[in-house]
Amino acid sequence: MTQVFHVGKNRLSTPVGRWASVGPYYAMFPIPFAFEIVEQNCPIGGAVLDPFAGRGSSIYAAVTTGRYGCGIEINEVGWLYGKAKLETASEEAVLNRNEEISRQSRGIRTSEINELPEFFHYCFTPRVLRYLLAARKWLHWKDDAADSTLMAIILVYLHGAKEKSFSNQTRQGKAMAPDYSVRWWKEHDSTPPDVQPLRFMRQRIRWRYAKGLPILHEGEVRFGDSVSELDIIKRDVDAGAIPQFDLLFTSPPYYNVTSYHYDQWLRLWMLGHNPRPSKTGGDWQDGFWSQAEYRELLTTVFTKCAAVMTPDACVLVRTDARTFTRDVTTEILCATFPDKELTTIVSPLNKGSQTALFGDKSQKPGEIDLLLKPR
Ligand SMILES: C[S@@+](CC[C@H](N)C(=O)[O-])C[C@H]1O[C@@H](n2cnc3c(N)ncnc32)[C@H](O)[C@@H]1O
Repeated sequence: MTQVFHVGKNRLSTPVGRWASVGPYYAMFPIPFAFEIVEQNCPIGGAVLDPFAGRGSSIYAAVTTGRYGCGIEINEVGWLYGKAKLETASEEAVLNRNEEISRQSRGIRTSEINELPEFFHYCFTPRVLRYLLAARKWLHWKDDAADSTLMAIILVYLHGAKEKSFSNQTRQGKAMAPDYSVRWWKEHDSTPPDVQPLRFMRQRIRWRYAKGLPILHEGEVRFGDSVSELDIIKRDVDAGAIPQFDLLFTSPPYYNVTSYHYDQWLRLWMLGHNPRPSKTGGDWQDGFWSQAEYRELLTTVFTKCAAVMTPDACVLVRTDARTFTRDVTTEILCATFPDKELTTIVSPLNKGSQTALFGDKSQKPGEIDLLLKPR
């Protein structure tokens, strides 16, 4: 099974490319990179494993090119993007749910809007807040395909450039700190755009489906902590329910760089979390400030991955080029896969197309790819 996948400016003209762009996520793989790695390192009919799946591009590349894919993700935002791409509902079902949510939004009380922190009133109009609160309350995004597809599309447009999203001017990949944002909007006299949610979403749903749906091979993204989920995956592999993996393709969180929980706080609010950002999101989610814990996470996860892979499997890990993350990852991978040969590839610097918006002109450190192949 081969499908046309255009990179570059034609990417959005195919079903595979259009759905691949769901949705914005900090430190995500460039889509062409995900396809290139899968196609070069996993045979058709083989299986790809990603224990830090993010928005699921590695798994999506696998299932759209005739491979089995299994991802694990602990952050609901990334997980939902992956789920929406792998279990997409019909266009009609998603449009119907959009109409229903819009109708139900009339049942949102003004007091529910007024209770929200100041940030929300500068970020969205009351009409948008009504729609978002209704979606937040009544979409069963965890287990219903139409609801998870609609919620994933809402999350794509929740915040970003003013004329392209529900929100006042902000970054799309990463939610900003509320105080900082409010100050910026006040200074720049910036007000939220007057969006009509029903129409806005209808147009975007139609656009997303306009080229059709990709043909998918079997695959899944599991919600949870890889440390425990990999034990369940091992049982499934041993029972023959899922295949052994031919490619471990992942990008772990980088040491001391970011908190995915914090960066996604506004989208996480849509999924039921607190309306104020929190630095701590539970185990493994708060930015990895301890070197010992970071080392322990990588050692545990890679060791458990090794137990479900074929002897000839390849490994590709993209990570931060900064010394501690690079060195510790290299050391753990070499110890976990001693019979494989390591090649280190220095990737080009992140382009960071959105970083200048709020004045972040800092130099990005760049990334490296660690490729391990059978000798
Ligand atoms: C660098 S990002 C991966 C981005 C991904 N390659 C993409 O294209 O979107 C690392 C991801 O690992 C997730 N993560 C961190 N600890 C985890 C754990 N113990 N189990 C599962 N996922 C975890 C984070 O939530 C984050 O989404």
